[in-house]
Amino acid sequence: HDRKATKVDGNSYAVDKWTNTPPHILSHINRHIYLQPNHPLDLTRRLIESQFPGPVYGNYSEPFPIVTTEQNFDVLGFPSDHPGRSRSDTYYLNEKTVLRTHTSAHQADYFRRMSSNENQEEGYTVVADVYRRDAIDRSHYPVFHQMEGARLWKRHEGMSAAESAAQILKDFEKLPAHGVEVEDPNPVTHPERNPLQSQFHSQEEVEAVAAHLKRSLENVVVKIFIEASKATSNAMKAGEEQLQEPLKIRWVEAYFPFTSPSWELEVFWQGDWLEVLGCGVIKQELLNNSGVPDRVGWAFGLGLERIAMLLFNIPDIRLFWSADPRFINQFREGKIVRFQPFSKYPGCYKDVAFWLQSATASGTGASAAGGAMPFHDNDMMEIVRDCAGDMAEDVKLVDEFVHPKTGRKSLCYRINYRSLKHTVTNEEANEVHEKVRKSLVELIGVELR
Ligand code: PHE
Repeated sequence: HDRKATKVDGNSYAVDKWTNTPPHILSHINRHIYLQPNHPLDLTRRLIESQFPGPVYGNYSEPFPIVTTEQNFDVLGFPSDHPGRSRSDTYYLNEKTVLRTHTSAHQADYFRRMSSNENQEEGYTVVADVYRRDAIDRSHYPVFHQMEGARLWKRHEGMSAAESAAQILKDFEKLPAHGVEVEDPNPVTHPERNPLQSQFHSQEEVEAVAAHLKRSLENVVVKIFIEASKATSNAMKAGEEQLQEPLKIRWVEAYFPFTSPSWELEVFWQGDWLEVLGCGVIKQELLNNSGVPDRVGWAFGLGLERIAMLLFNIPDIRLFWSADPRFINQFREGKIVRFQPFSKYPGCYKDVAFWLQSATASGTGASAAGGAMPFHDNDMMEIVRDCAGDMAEDVKLVDEFVHPKTGRKSLCYRINYRSLKHTVTNEEANEVHEKVRKSLVELIGVELR
């Protein structure tokens, strides 16, 4: 093997056995659609940023997505066996370098920046493109956008825990109230898995941080969903006014390696509880290691597409990448409108069924010596993305069984080929589908049925 390297923006990344980032994924770097004027992601970003104004908060973006595994995982305290680190979930450029899987990859750098005297800000938001190997369907795309935010308070020299808590509560009291019912404002948190960090924080300090965190984020979500329901009722014709359910939100316990305790905020939207963000009290070790041992605070992270899809009623996540004027011209700064779908082009679906290599078979195809390569759903997704690009609307496992005698496993996937740009003909779908079948044999070593 010759020493190969991936080049991105003049940087060179040596290829090794961890490398799994295909060129079509890299081609999304530098698109920066969340900064494109009037783009729905740009409008969503601005709407949320308006809830975190200066001079307390600075609003930033991080346009370059390549980070070290150290930034993405290690400094945040991800255990070495955390599933997020696996090659089936994360795009690696090489063993030490990944496409960031979340904006939290920049937390430590932002904290460090806040320790300097020039920076008077006590909090920030940061928006960025993030990358994850995941399912293919109308709400998942391997490249999406997150906004992260944090707020820190300095415990000044000689300040007692009670004084520190009082200073945070004073800021909490300045936050506007929202008047929306919160179903479970204080869920019980698991004392061992999600402790209060009592070696670092007093109970009243944690409670003050949590109160400020919850109110700030409730305000964000209330703002978004009030805008969304205004847009919905504007869209409804006069006389057709239908009873809109009052907005309901609730807090549920969550786990993140870099916050404790942690929560998710859920919103009751069109009949379902929807998770909209994750957050928590920042782990003190992380602050200590980032040059701000004298501060306590909170952090949150949310996905912009998820919110933009319900804010504007956008039915397919691929549309965000579209340059079609029928899409892009519907959105304008300063108003939230319901997206008017233009007619969908017909698509067609194709099934592919195959036998996986049995665990005892050896030495065939791409299998590692001595056994079968573990097959992950995301390996299927990556092959389809590679062969079909944005023509794949969704991919579903429709059948799975184990042969009673041989113990071999059979899978059947249904791929829905539908383009946002043109009608997919049967010949075109066949051609792409044939590529998928070939790749499954060549890369995974399956036996087609
Ligand atoms: N980075 C987390 C995620 O992607 C979200 C998060 C950010 C949670 C900050 C807590 C604090 O799921």
